[in-house]
Amino acid sequence: MATDQDQEVSEAQIAVHWREEEYYYPPAKFIGQANANDPAIFERFREEDFPECFKEYADLLTWDQYWKTTLDTSNPPFWKWFVGGRLNASVNCVDRHLATSRNKAALIWVPEPESEETQAITYQELYKRINEFAALLRGFGDVGIGDRVTFHLPMVPELPVSMLACARLGVIHNEVFGGFSGAACGGRIADSGSRILITMDGYYRNGELIDHKAKADEAVAAAKEQGFEVDKVLVWRRHPGQYSSKTPMVAGRDFFVDELMHEYAGRLVDPVSMPAEAPLFLMYTSGTTGRPKGCVHSTGGYLAYVTGTAKYYQDIHPEDTYWCAADIGWITGHSYIVYGPLSLGTSSVMYEGVPLYPDAGRMWRIAERLGVSIFHTAPTTIRLLRKFGPDEPKKYDYHFKHMTTVGEPIEPEVWRWYHEVVGKREAVIVDTWWQTENGGFLGSTLPALQPMKPGSCGPGVLGIYPVIYDEERKLVEVGSGRAGNICIRNPWPGIFQTIWGQDERFVETYYAKYCRDKESKDWRDWPYLAGDGAVQAADGYIRILGRIDDVINVAGHRLGTKELESAALTVDEIAEAAAVPVVDELRGRAVEMYIALKPGLKPSKELEEKVIKAIEKEIGKIARPKNVWIVTDMPKTRSGKIMRRVIAAISNFTDIGDVTTLANPEIVDSIRHQVQTEKAARGEVPRELTPQEVEEMKRFGQAE
Ligand code: WT7
Repeated sequence: MATDQDQEVSEAQIAVHWREEEYYYPPAKFIGQANANDPAIFERFREEDFPECFKEYADLLTWDQYWKTTLDTSNPPFWKWFVGGRLNASVNCVDRHLATSRNKAALIWVPEPESEETQAITYQELYKRINEFAALLRGFGDVGIGDRVTFHLPMVPELPVSMLACARLGVIHNEVFGGFSGAACGGRIADSGSRILITMDGYYRNGELIDHKAKADEAVAAAKEQGFEVDKVLVWRRHPGQYSSKTPMVAGRDFFVDELMHEYAGRLVDPVSMPAEAPLFLMYTSGTTGRPKGCVHSTGGYLAYVTGTAKYYQDIHPEDTYWCAADIGWITGHSYIVYGPLSLGTSSVMYEGVPLYPDAGRMWRIAERLGVSIFHTAPTTIRLLRKFGPDEPKKYDYHFKHMTTVGEPIEPEVWRWYHEVVGKREAVIVDTWWQTENGGFLGSTLPALQPMKPGSCGPGVLGIYPVIYDEERKLVEVGSGRAGNICIRNPWPGIFQTIWGQDERFVETYYAKYCRDKESKDWRDWPYLAGDGAVQAADGYIRILGRIDDVINVAGHRLGTKELESAALTVDEIAEAAAVPVVDELRGRAVEMYIALKPGLKPSKELEEKVIKAIEKEIGKIARPKNVWIVTDMPKTRSGKIMRRVIAAISNFTDIGDVTTLANPEIVDSIRHQVQTEKAARGEVPRELTPQEVEEMKRFGQAE
C-alpha cells in the first residue's frame, strides 16, 4: 500500500550536497603537552580490542574492588560494564585527591553580581561540605542506597555538593534544570519517586534575584496531582541566614539547609562502596511521546567514560583551569563540569549567571581573571557572544589552549569566529556530538591527532564505531554523500542503562529498529539508534543533520513536540496544537506553535498570550514559542495525522513539497499566506537555509 510514509522515506534519502570544509591543524604547542599525542592510542582502541580497550578508562578510577568482567552481554541490550567492581563516585571525585591536592581549588564559583566575590572551594573544603550534607541527608532526610532525591537547583556550588553527597550514600540524584518550571519538576519527582526535593530560595539571573522557591510549591503540587507525595523540601539559601523568596515556608515540610546544618557540622560519612552497575543518577530528557524519559546512568561505567573522554578529548590536566559554561542541570554539566573534571583532579569553574550580564565582555573577564585554559560552551552561546560583542575577546588577556562546542551543529562561520576571535588561533576546538542518553562524547576529533573540520564533529571517538543505515536497514556507504540514521554499532561504558521504570520503551526506542536478532546475545546484533540524521564524509568525519524524531533542539537542548503541544492544550479554547522548529539566528532552533481553536471561537492576541503562558508554566521559559499562529485548520493526512513537515516548511520559507496526498491540500496555501505575510511584515524572513537545514525540515515530524 502506498502511504504518505513511503514518500517521506525517499525524501529522507536525497543526496545531501554541500561544500566540504578545509582542515584546521592543532598548534605545535598544544600537541607537545596533550594527554593523547601518540597515534598508538588508535591501536589500543581498535575494534578487535573491544571491549577490553575500555580497561584503559576504568583504570583511571580508584576501585574498592577491581572488576572481573569488562562487559557482560547476557541480557541485551541491558549491557553491564566492569561487573564485580565496587567504587564510590564521591571518593573518586574528591577524597582521592586530598593526599596531593587538599588545598587546590576543586570548584571556582563565579556569582553573577560582579560585586560578589568569586569563591574558590578547595578539595578539602568540598570534602567537608559533601560529608556534612551527606550526614544531613542520611540523618534528617532518612535516605539510603537506591533512593531517589530530586534537585531543582541553579548554578551554585550547593548543586555539586548535593550531587556528590548523594553519590557518597549510594542515593540516586535527579537534578532538574533550574530554568524548568515547577510543573516540569513535579512530573519528574513523581516519575522518579523522590520523597525529597532539594531546592534554593533564589539565584541571580540577568541582574535579578529570582524567586526560585516558588517553583518548589508548584512542583510539590504537580507531583501530588500525579499521585505522589513529597515529604520534605530542603531549601538552600543563596545568602545563608537570609530568605530571598516571598513564598512562605510550609511548616513540617520545608526546611532551611543552613539551619539544619548546625547539627551536622564537621560530621564525616563513610562512603558507601557501590557496585559498578548501581545507578548514580537520573537525567530526564524529551522523547517522541509526552512522558519524559529518565535516563539511568551507572556508577562505574559512566564515571570511567567521562573521566577517559575528559582526559583525552578535553585534554584536562590537573593543573588546568577548566571552564564549562553549560548548566549542571543538563547532562553536559553533570559529565563535564562535575564528574569528569573532578575525577581528574582539576579546577572546574562554575558561573551562576547569563553570558551577557552585565555586558558582552563578562565571559572574557572571567577567563582572564581566573586564567582559564580550557573553555567549553554551546553554539547558541557562541552566536550570542558573536552577535553582541564580536570584538570583545580581543580586549582581554586570556589564552585558551582548548575549546569545546556541544549541543547542536555549529555553522562553519560561527566555528571560524570561535577559532579566530575567541580562541585567538591558539586553541584547538573539539566539536562534541552526543546525547543525554550517552553519558559522554560519541563523535569528536582527538585534538592533537586529528585535524578539525568546521561543521563536522569528526569521527567516532575512541572505542565508538558509528554506522549509518537507511530506512530499509541498508548500510549508507561512507563518502556516498547520502544521509541516513546514525547508529553506534557497539555498547560503551557511558551508555545509559535504561529509561527509569520503562524498560520496554528503552528497547523499543533505541534498539528495536536495527536489531538483527532479538534472541542474540552478541552485541554486534544490537546497534544503538541515536535518533539523529547524519552524513559521513570519505574521511570518516560525521556531519549531524538534527533529530529524526519529533524533538526540537532549542539552544542545544531537546524539547519534545508532544510536551509542547500538551502544554498548549491545557488552554481551554484550544482544539489542536502543533509545534514545529524554526531556524533562529541565536538559539539554533526556536519553537513555533500552530493552533486551531474550538468551533465558534475567534483568534486574538489574548489567546496567543495564553498559549505562551501555558507553555512557560508547564515546561519553562526555555520553551517559549517565538510565534503562535492561530489557523483555521491544520494540514492533515487522510488518516488525520497533522503534517508537521508542511507547517515547518511554511514557518521556514522552504519548499513545501508535494501536498496532493493530504486530506485538505487547500488549507496549505491559506496558512502559508497568513503566516508568511505576517512574518514578512515583522521582518522575520529567515536567511536562505543551508542544505542540511532544509533536509532537517523535510524530515521533521516523520516519527511515529
Ligand atoms: C541532541 C542531544 C549531550 C549534549 C547536550 C545535548 C544534538 C548534540 C551535537 C553536536 C550536532 C549535536 C543531536 C543530539 N547535538 N551535540 N556537537 N553537533 N548536533 O543533549 O539534549 O540530549 O540533545 O543534540 O541532535 O541527538 P541532548
